[in-house]
Amino acid sequence: MSESIKVRLLVVDDEQSIRKLCMTIGNSLGYVCSEAESAETAVARIEQDAPDLILTDLKLPTQSGVELLRQAKATFPRAEVAIMTGHGSIESAVDAMKLGAYDYIEKPFRVEKMRLLLQRMAEKVRLVTENEFLRERVSAEDNLDGIIGSAANIQDVLRMVSRLKDTRTPVLVSGESGTGKELVARAIHFRGAMAQTPFVAVDCGSLVPTLMESELFGYEKGAFTGAMKSKTGLFQAANGGTIFLDEIGELPLEMQAKLLRVLQEREVRPVGSNESHTVDVRVIAATNRDLEAAYRDGTFRKDLYFRLNVVTVHLPSLRERRSDIPVLVHHFLNRYAPGTNLSVTPAAMKSLLQYEWPGNVRELENCIARAVTLGDRQIIDVGDLPPAIRSESDASAPAMVDGSSLSTTALAEMERMTILKVFEQANGDKALAGRMLGISRATLYRKLKRYNISIRAGAQSTQTVSH
Ligand SMILES: Nc1ncnc2c1ncn2[C@@H]1O[C@H](COP(=O)(O)OP(=O)(O)OP(=O)(O)O)[C@@H](O)[C@H]1O
Ligand SMILES: [Mg+2]
Repeated sequence: MSESIKVRLLVVDDEQSIRKLCMTIGNSLGYVCSEAESAETAVARIEQDAPDLILTDLKLPTQSGVELLRQAKATFPRAEVAIMTGHGSIESAVDAMKLGAYDYIEKPFRVEKMRLLLQRMAEKVRLVTENEFLRERVSAEDNLDGIIGSAANIQDVLRMVSRLKDTRTPVLVSGESGTGKELVARAIHFRGAMAQTPFVAVDCGSLVPTLMESELFGYEKGAFTGAMKSKTGLFQAANGGTIFLDEIGELPLEMQAKLLRVLQEREVRPVGSNESHTVDVRVIAATNRDLEAAYRDGTFRKDLYFRLNVVTVHLPSLRERRSDIPVLVHHFLNRYAPGTNLSVTPAAMKSLLQYEWPGNVRELENCIARAVTLGDRQIIDVGDLPPAIRSESDASAPAMVDGSSLSTTALAEMERMTILKVFEQANGDKALAGRMLGISRATLYRKLKRYNISIRAGAQSTQTVSH
């Protein structure tokens, strides 16, 4: 709940003086207050005003406060209800607590005590709302892209994504095949304020050259044989949103010139038409080729290169961020074998960590999907990995950057460090850390125990407890 959204308080009592007093206290706290003298009026008010806090007398003319509590909780579970009791009715108040009342307060009460009660209730409502919001946000982000990784170079990429998400700046995403270029392009669009606008992905590499222009810019009826009716192009379809030009390096020179014109003039002219249409489109292009080398050798237009490449987001290869491999493995295990407790043996993990991954994250994903399908569903061992990955770990050539081969202890240490780092980023929030690591709560607890990591929720630092 943000500062600008006011807490709404409903006071229910048949005694006017009590209502007035409670409303005065509520007003002094900046709440929006309303009142009801009976349970019936209160129910109507609840439906109309959707109060966050309800303060009700236990004894009301026709219906008891406990009954009102029951009804309020049924229609409006998020509202917090406190009961005001007279002398000798503590027992009913305790019953009310069992039914979900927040607290009870005895009449007559001191103003300060009522103030505190209302403040505590409002704080609880705020926390619950905020948590729900966070949970929804995290799961929305997970569903949209789920870019996993805590290595410094991928964190740089994530920072760039947040900086670019609300801009209209053209972006060039570069990186080897399978490093997550499309994932990043989608994240820039869908994490931003313009997420509701269209996102149109075009694979320039797979467009048939003769149809490219009509696909991108549309065509008029009769523009060519077979054009029975006119068709809107992909640029117009992306109007107001983002067009993702994947494999931009594959675009023939002739199309490059046409694309450049569209970007400069911000309008498209469908094939066979005399009319141009204005388009407002943010362009995100991706390439696994070295476009700079391409414009030097004349296969890519330099002017187009500079227009597209206002900002570059470069994706590191997987071998440049090996510390993320365990997290990614868990992430894909959760995706391909959800609900199982499939584990990877240290020897298999060692192979996965040492392999060169020319196909990057996509290759790792395929490898896990394959192991899940072929394996015995209990553990993934070296034998469940493709031969290329297995043999690399058998070879004596160590693949680690620092030249040392990985022992099982080093592996465990790497996993421990990853967990510690993620916890620091999650500020001690276990649920969030679990999601960042892509592992279940149960697995997370097991690992925390195994590595003797103790977490204090909300703590700035995470520490390892030694025996
Ligand atoms: N950081 C990441 N976290 C989780 N999954 C990832 C990550 N990076 C890539 N992937 C997954 O790997 C696969 C390949 O990603 P993507 O298609 O975005 O790569 P690409 O760079 O566009 O590849 P290509 O150049 O082959 O088109 C996808 O299934 C994607 O979900
Ligand atoms: Mg791609």
